[in-house]
Amino acid sequence: MKWAGGKTQLLETIHNSLPKDIYESKFTYVEPFVGSGAVLFSMINNFSTLDRVVINDINSDSINCYFTIKDNVTHLISELKELEFKYYTFKDKPEDRKEFYYLKRSEFNSRNCDIIIQSSLFIFLNRTCFNGLYRVNRNNNFNVPIGSYVTPQICDSKNLFFCK
Ligand SMILES: C[S@@+](CC[C@H](N)C(=O)[O-])C[C@H]1O[C@@H](n2cnc3c(N)ncnc32)[C@H](O)[C@@H]1O
Repeated sequence: MKWAGGKTQLLETIHNSLPKDIYESKFTYVEPFVGSGAVLFSMINNFSTLDRVVINDINSDSINCYFTIKDNVTHLISELKELEFKYYTFKDKPEDRKEFYYLKRSEFNSRNCDIIIQSSLFIFLNRTCFNGLYRVNRNNNFNVPIGSYVTPQICDSKNLFFCK
């Protein structure tokens, strides 16, 4: 996911600041502001002594998405593949593509969908909106306009399976 304030660029600095004995015994990693998990996944990738993780974020859309990946990744992937297929179908029809994006944004904002559809829409919007921004108004309505990527990767199955 694209996420404002993501710490990908700072991973080396963060790793260099970790306690030196971190390789020696099992530990629990607690990430209270997980966002899109740049630090979390680099911890999982780099420390075989990591025994358990505890994550949190005030953004319930993002946390629900983590739950969906953990519990229903296959179903999530099939929803994302369908969204990707339809979005690409409108590649040369900007008005139709725009209509599709705003329809899916309204569906997301209705918050009537089950958690799997809601998570697929969350990822879809993240990949197709302007600059991957996440912005909601005071009614918790996502209000970022469509972005200009022609063929954004909407369904990254390999990565989703890895995150699970
Ligand atoms: C910059 S992002 C975190 C980046 C992330 N740690 C990484 O590895 O790239 C900050 C996150 O903190 C969350 N956040 C902000 N205020 C919070 C709060 N009071 N409690 C929990 N999460 C909060 C935001 O929703 C956002 O996802």
